[in-house]
Amino acid sequence: MTMPRRMLINAFTMNCVSHIQQGLWVRDDTRQLDYTQLDPWVELAQILEKGCFDALFLADVVGVYDTYRGGPETSIIEGMQIPVNDPALLIPAMAHATENLGFAFTSSVLQTHPFTFARQVSTLDHLTRGRVAWNIVTSYLPNAGANLGLGGLPSHDERYDRADEYLDVTYKLWEGSWEDDAVLRDTQRGIYADPTKIHPINHIGKHYEVAGPHLSEPSPQRTPLLFQAGSSTRGRSFAAKHAECVFIVAPRQSLGAAANVINDIRTQATNEGRHPDDIRFFQGLTTVVGGTEEEAKAKAAEYLEQFSTEGALAHMSGSIGVDLAAIDLDRPLNTIDSEAMRGSIKGLIESAPDRTQTFRDLVRNRLARQFLTGTPEQIADALEDWQAAGVDGFNLIYSVTPGTFVDFIDGVVPVLQARGLMQREYTPGPLRQKIFGDPRLPDSHPAAAYRRH
Ligand SMILES: Cc1cc2nc3c(=O)[nH]c(=O)nc-3n(C[C@H](O)[C@H](O)[C@H](O)COP(=O)(O)O)c2cc1C
Repeated sequence: MTMPRRMLINAFTMNCVSHIQQGLWVRDDTRQLDYTQLDPWVELAQILEKGCFDALFLADVVGVYDTYRGGPETSIIEGMQIPVNDPALLIPAMAHATENLGFAFTSSVLQTHPFTFARQVSTLDHLTRGRVAWNIVTSYLPNAGANLGLGGLPSHDERYDRADEYLDVTYKLWEGSWEDDAVLRDTQRGIYADPTKIHPINHIGKHYEVAGPHLSEPSPQRTPLLFQAGSSTRGRSFAAKHAECVFIVAPRQSLGAAANVINDIRTQATNEGRHPDDIRFFQGLTTVVGGTEEEAKAKAAEYLEQFSTEGALAHMSGSIGVDLAAIDLDRPLNTIDSEAMRGSIKGLIESAPDRTQTFRDLVRNRLARQFLTGTPEQIADALEDWQAAGVDGFNLIYSVTPGTFVDFIDGVVPVLQARGLMQREYTPGPLRQKIFGDPRLPDSHPAAAYRRH
């Protein structure tokens, strides 16, 4: 019998007051109000590194959630992903205070020109000594489209078309512009780099024209570790082509749903000429740990009590593109169609097997369903069940920060380590090396086609 692969563990957070679990920011035992300060971020990074986490994962949006009740008021009142600061700018300070922790940050293909973005990422990859990952998103908030001079949010498939070209441009810059031996640093001859080994990319496409060369010299990973989270048909084929790590949120009640998504993407990746093992899958969930089951349940009940339904409705309305204030909350899930997040709608409907579940039920139960509540051993058992369904790791969603992560580290990590399921120390080297054993993308990845040998 082969041992299961080690579990990968990330902390999921956002540079804002209220990320996923709305309404809990008012508690005394959370540092969400300090998000504009560096100290809580640096301390969080150090806590996660002591707990042998793989990465701190930062979500982001470039627009306000203004679907609910036809405006942004509820989101603003709830601190619900507004205000929201730039995630990437937190990374150098946290990297300086740690040695091994990875830093995944979200950036939409709509928000920054790929030439500028590629340089930003290369700079971060240098400064972190290869510990940076990019969560590739295509944006779903109409306000994001309105903010970025695109004349509104491009359609779902148009956004993915753009993403394909965006990635082509960045791959050319990261992998193809500078040859491995372009940089000489020859102080004797006074030659920094060899101009014959640095190339323009001369990209001319539908959306972008980029001459190059890339302005940054090759960084430890070149292309950052690539995360992706779309779950529509188009989103899955995009993941199968590009992603190295896929973030899923499958319902806990049906581990088979996770297995289906994972098998589908792995099969599509194989059809693209990639190895199915070139992709790792991360399930999003929240652990609520107690010394006893009763203690854990009491803690979860307290969170549920404080949970803001209004904040959750504003969040969900923006995410699915439907004003939940305008529809009958008792309407069954399967009667709602959405352009904005088809995959998400599909996922929601699949999460209610009888399909009669209403949105009111869903909102109430949604938070409870994210919770994995119990003693460290019970939680470790449940994580093993996920692993058996094909999940490689977890993006842990906090209820309180850093408390949710501290409880996991103090309680669950030692159990997972004792079972041989979680690392006790880090593998040296860049983030991709720690996860896949090589700092560079494999030859089967489409970015590798742009390399010059
Ligand atoms: C777990 C998860 C996390 C996500 N995080 C972000 C995020 O931080 N920022 C963002 O703009 N979109 C985020 N998304 C949205 C996806 O990137 C994608 O745009 C959305 O799911 C629509 O694509 P799809 O129709 O292929 O599912 C997330 C989606 C999921 C499922």
